[in-house]
Amino acid sequence: MLAIAAEPPFVAAAKALSEQIGAELLIEWSLDDDSRFEQLLVFDTGGVSLCPTGRKRPGPVQVDFLSGAVNHRRQFGGGQGQQIAKACGVSSAFKPYIADMTAGLGRDAFVLATLGSTVQMVERNPLVAALLRDGLERAQSTDDPTIVEIIKRLHFTPGQSVEWLNAHQGEADVVYVDPMFPHSQKSARVKKEMLAFRSLVGADEDSAELLEAALGSARCRVVVKRPRKAPCIAGRQPDYALEGKSGRFDIYALRKLAPAQ
Ligand SMILES: C[S@@+](CC[C@H](N)C(=O)[O-])C[C@H]1O[C@@H](n2cnc3c(N)ncnc32)[C@H](O)[C@@H]1O
Repeated sequence: MLAIAAEPPFVAAAKALSEQIGAELLIEWSLDDDSRFEQLLVFDTGGVSLCPTGRKRPGPVQVDFLSGAVNHRRQFGGGQGQQIAKACGVSSAFKPYIADMTAGLGRDAFVLATLGSTVQMVERNPLVAALLRDGLERAQSTDDPTIVEIIKRLHFTPGQSVEWLNAHQGEADVVYVDPMFPHSQKSARVKKEMLAFRSLVGADEDSAELLEAALGSARCRVVVKRPRKAPCIAGRQPDYALEGKSGRFDIYALRKLAPAQ
């Protein structure tokens, strides 16, 4: 069970979300108390964060483009040599316009925007959307001009990606899809914090429909991120795949990746 919790200045935004999803709104809470709620989405001066409860709880999940792993990868992650850049065809000569249809916490989109692409993100889960919007807003107001430029290339629309793809046929050079795979908790080599995110989203069981819409909408290419040993979505073989240490990119090459005429 999840509730929304808000300090007084943030109650209005939190109330709108709690009404949208039918979750209880708390204005007094203790993260030590796990008797009623396993997780709280907290709105406070630090932004919006997903906080597991209980005395031995893991740390919160927050979208943070300014420090931590995402920013470290921006500076030291290998630039255009990264598998995601190769999969999406980002190069010095061409920065494709990318539609990230499974935005999540915006990590992949941020990497692609760091490399110069403009990225349209869509996310359907309202709680994840609240985390992402908050991360974008905090990053917009930083005084680091490099990050401000990157964030300007990131656009976010909450909602269903199949609808976005149908309404924007042929606009994106690359459609990028990273659906949540049904992981077993035991085998997942993930940080405890990320288990909270997974339990929030659940498995994306309708990824076949999303792939179909992506193939019908992308101008040049569809890129699907999968766990390394996972089957292709709907058994549909890609034209080629790139394997990394932890994951795989299936690439459906519709036509040559090049600027539109
Ligand atoms: C594995 S996460 C993506 C993580 C993301 N690539 C990142 O770097 O943070 C998958 C996300 O896609 C969203 N999603 C899945 N299918 C979707 C759809 N059809 N429309 C909109 N969002 C979708 C889920 O709600 C979830 O937040």
